[in-house]
Amino acid sequence: MSEMANTDPEGIDAVRMTWNVWPRTKVEASKCVIPLAATIAPIRPHPDIPTLPYAPLRCRTCSAALNAFARVDFVAKIWICPFCYQRNHFPPHYAMISETNLPCELYPQYTTVQYTLQPDPNNPSSAPQLPPVFVFVLDTCMIEEELEFVKSAMKQAIGLLPENALVGFVSFGTQAHVHELGFSDMSKVYVFRGNKEITKEQVLEQLGLGAAGRRPTAGYPKGLQNGFTNTGVNRFLLPASDCEFTLNSLLDELQTDQWPVQAGHRASRCTGVALSVAAGLLGACLPGTGARIVALVGGPCTEGPGTIVSKDMSEPVRSHKDLDKDAAPYFKKAVKFYDSLAKQLVSQGHVLDLFASALDQVGVAEMKVAVERTGGLVVLAESFGHSVFKDSFKRVFKDGEQTLGLCFNGTLEINCSKDIKIQGVIGPCTSLEKKGPNVADTVIGEGNTTAWKMCGLDKSTCFTVLFDVSSTDKSNAPGVANPQLYLQFLTSYQDPEGKTMLRVTTVTRQWVDNAVSSEELIQGFDQETAAVVMARITSLKMEMEVFNNSPDETAYFRMLLNRENITNAAVMIQPSLISYSFNSLPQPALLDVASISADRILLLDSYFSIVIFHGMTIAQWRNMGYQNQPEHQAFAQLLQAPQDDAQMIIRERFPVPRLVVCDQHGSQVGSELNNAESHEPNLQEKWGVMIVAFPFYARFLLAKLNPSATYNNANEMAAGSDVIFTDDVSLQVFFEHLQRLAVQS
Ligand SMILES: *[C@@H]1O[C@H](CO)[C@@H](O)[C@H](O)[C@H]1NC(C)=O
Ligand SMILES: *[C@@H]1O[C@H](CO)[C@@H](O)[C@H](O)[C@H]1NC(C)=O
Ligand SMILES: *[C@@H]1O[C@H](CO)[C@@H](O)[C@H](O)[C@H]1NC(C)=O
Ligand SMILES: *[C@@H]1O[C@H](CO)[C@@H](O)[C@H](O)[C@H]1NC(C)=O
Ligand SMILES: [Zn+2]
Repeated sequence: MSEMANTDPEGIDAVRMTWNVWPRTKVEASKCVIPLAATIAPIRPHPDIPTLPYAPLRCRTCSAALNAFARVDFVAKIWICPFCYQRNHFPPHYAMISETNLPCELYPQYTTVQYTLQPDPNNPSSAPQLPPVFVFVLDTCMIEEELEFVKSAMKQAIGLLPENALVGFVSFGTQAHVHELGFSDMSKVYVFRGNKEITKEQVLEQLGLGAAGRRPTAGYPKGLQNGFTNTGVNRFLLPASDCEFTLNSLLDELQTDQWPVQAGHRASRCTGVALSVAAGLLGACLPGTGARIVALVGGPCTEGPGTIVSKDMSEPVRSHKDLDKDAAPYFKKAVKFYDSLAKQLVSQGHVLDLFASALDQVGVAEMKVAVERTGGLVVLAESFGHSVFKDSFKRVFKDGEQTLGLCFNGTLEINCSKDIKIQGVIGPCTSLEKKGPNVADTVIGEGNTTAWKMCGLDKSTCFTVLFDVSSTDKSNAPGVANPQLYLQFLTSYQDPEGKTMLRVTTVTRQWVDNAVSSEELIQGFDQETAAVVMARITSLKMEMEVFNNSPDETAYFRMLLNRENITNAAVMIQPSLISYSFNSLPQPALLDVASISADRILLLDSYFSIVIFHGMTIAQWRNMGYQNQPEHQAFAQLLQAPQDDAQMIIRERFPVPRLVVCDQHGSQVGSELNNAESHEPNLQEKWGVMIVAFPFYARFLLAKLNPSATYNNANEMAAGSDVIFTDDVSLQVFFEHLQRLAVQS
């Protein structure tokens, strides 16, 4: 871990590639097995990235932004675009340019630069600084205790929001209630029936925002600068500072859903209608601005559109087996509903975040499409009182170091050298269907385009771009002589302060004719990136059951696998294990029973959980209180080190992982340090399963790549008491195997 902390394999560009030298022809590329792919965290902060207070120069032919790889003729004041070789004249305000007087974007080290596009006060159509918008959609079908947890989390969140942030509130159970916050004398509520699909027009009509009651939105950006002209904004969406009191008293009075629930039945919960209403409200009031629907859900939708299970408890929520056998009667219809909600939200530029807490499934598998396509956040916890929810939720709103830095209204555009085709993007975005010469015929993920919408994104959001090479021969077309290829990523977005930013990252790699230089190809292979990219492609292509997981857990895992950076995604595929002992520095240990020892402490990071495991002797000494005795300071330090490292991981990760602390042969295995309230009798059994479940991806991939290999049965591993750490495929073996496969031809 100490090694990892100091290295930054992504550098200023936050880009990693499966291959760092590229085969030049389609035939050679297809021999590589592992596809040509780049992962990018397009707005990851880096201290060396300059921010420039002007707009970039664009190539007049291909519209690529001027960058460090352009060739410049200082005498003629011309730059040659590395993408299309077009000669471009510098405009007059670049007249002072010379070898010793370069604009920032031409410095060789600034392959990533950022432009602030300031609103122009003389141009009404230029982007104004916009406040962020949050519409909370709160489920009330929960037990009293859970509702109290979630209410207090919401109150805290509203207190943390910037004063100018606009806030709206929808609650739901059997029906959906839209609360008019601008009407402070008395609470005024608009009620929507939960059992019927409702059109956008009906939502607006019922809220009094129909054509008659609404002013045209065309002039709204201007209005935003001097207070809102849109009546819906004044009634339903208020600045946090103005409505905090109203909302707090509203939450104090809010009860659990009072609709009677028959014995043996689930509560009647109209999640789909509530989300439609929230989307309709935002669409009418603030289309095209950064807004998010924050859904807090305590169980499955059982009423109206988006229903995932019937109310009758004797009918269980669908499993992977049901999905495989096509025996999940609600599934397809629900997915279709959330797919259309996704389209509506993307066209409005709005985000859906899902915070779900329940012991059973709530429908993450069905709602995934709406969350992922809008770039929403997702957190799955077992209680709204658990730190996995509480601490994650706080981080969404909190200012300061641990804030997520939520951004809005993002667009990613990619330019590339001739002969490179884009197959698609895996990650939280939607294709904008912008065709061009660089679009491949085969589509993987969100494809058919060179531009993608990211309604929501944050500083750690990561995307995987899949490429293909189209040239079939080494013809004499212009540029073929160039040994370098270029990719440019242009990301525009609204930052947390409401400023419009444009980030431009331009990277270059070398072409090789691998018939003669396969050694070079191998040198440029990034095995960690390759493992993650393969896991993403595999999980995209097949409806695959992860060992002992529910469809909700699988959907959750996939969404996070797709949006995390390579380091974190690698931990999801294969947990990391660090060993702490007296006579050495903390060091990585093999994921194997052999790593357990009485005088060691192990720190297991499986991304969703962090486990601190004390060897028997260590546990005994700790129980005898040696760490409190001055002569045993070294022991106190040994005991503390994994705790500190665990806290460091927890601080940086979203969703916040659960922390489990336990002892070898401990009869009471776990106390969860970050959650004193919850008690879990079967903890060991549970995380024994969990630990085996995630490396399953590695095992699955390996089996897929090499069907002749044999592996132990996962069940054998979970059985024994100490066998929890056992895994047959060490990451090293996995990567070695992947590399062998990747370069064999
Ligand atoms: C949102 O992004 C699009 C595409 O980049 C842009 O045209 C539009 O002006 C942006 N909206 C706002 C309000 O900034
Ligand atoms: C560069 O990107 C722009 C915007 O997506 C597109 O119009 C243009 O064709 C691209 N040019 C190249 C050379 O990829
Ligand atoms: C890509 O676009 C073509 C036509 O432009 C369309 O027929 C095809 O269905 C699209 N593919 C995907 C996966 O969207
Ligand atoms: C990956 O994300 C984590 C936060 O979750 C961060 O601490 C780490 O620095 C990131 N790694 C890289 C290489 O960006
Ligand atoms: Zn160009």
